[in-house]
Amino acid sequence: MKGHEKIVALTAYDYGMAQLLDRCDVPLLLVGDSLGMVVLGLPDTTGVTMEDMVHHTRAVSRAKTNALRVADLPYGSYESSADAVQNAKRLAATGAEAVKAEGGVAISKQVRSIIQEGIPFLGHLGMLPQKVKEEGGYRLKGKNANEKKALFEDAEALVDAGAFAIVLELVEAETAGELTKKLPIPTIGIGSGNECDGQILVTTDLWSTSPNYIPKHVQSNLQVRVEMENSVKGWMDSLK
Ligand code: KIV
Repeated sequence: MKGHEKIVALTAYDYGMAQLLDRCDVPLLLVGDSLGMVVLGLPDTTGVTMEDMVHHTRAVSRAKTNALRVADLPYGSYESSADAVQNAKRLAATGAEAVKAEGGVAISKQVRSIIQEGIPFLGHLGMLPQKVKEEGGYRLKGKNANEKKALFEDAEALVDAGAFAIVLELVEAETAGELTKKLPIPTIGIGSGNECDGQILVTTDLWSTSPNYIPKHVQSNLQVRVEMENSVKGWMDSLK
């Protein structure tokens, strides 16, 4: 789709969501570890386990989507190539057609090993939510020369390792645009400007149903939340 058609991707965490999004012809569904915050009530993604990911990937996969189903390898599940392969295979066995993990040069061995096993790999660079504790928050990346250089090196490492696309999270818009022009594979942005080959959002942010916080880059549809609340209040009123 690079160079021809904007790639659209959304997160899906369960059967019903996957079915609804597939009916909208969304081409890529990510069982993102963002489910830790928006479904499980965790403070960040570092508490999400392989069991959580298997459980939700299985539910999404039951929708037998036309959309490509990608599942996140959670925090701590790809420290070594052996772990990365074992856990990627577990997600594939539950219906994921590709996996995603965070990082570039630092995980390129693991990425190669996963791809050698026949499991397609989606990269994730920029702000890496699994590193939020080390980084002390969610911060825009690629603003200075050092960060820009590191991003290009990481992206090239993922291309060399065989990733089919790269999610760019909170990358300064101009840098994201330069990466998009330079790379032979698609970039899928989130909070990284309009120049990427595609865009991904956390679906519950789009719907305004994420429980605690909606990021600035999302033009959310508050109407959905209001209607959901109204249906509950309306039903309660009808019983009075
Ligand atoms: O976990 C997730 O939902 C993600 C997206 C924000 C890209 O990684």
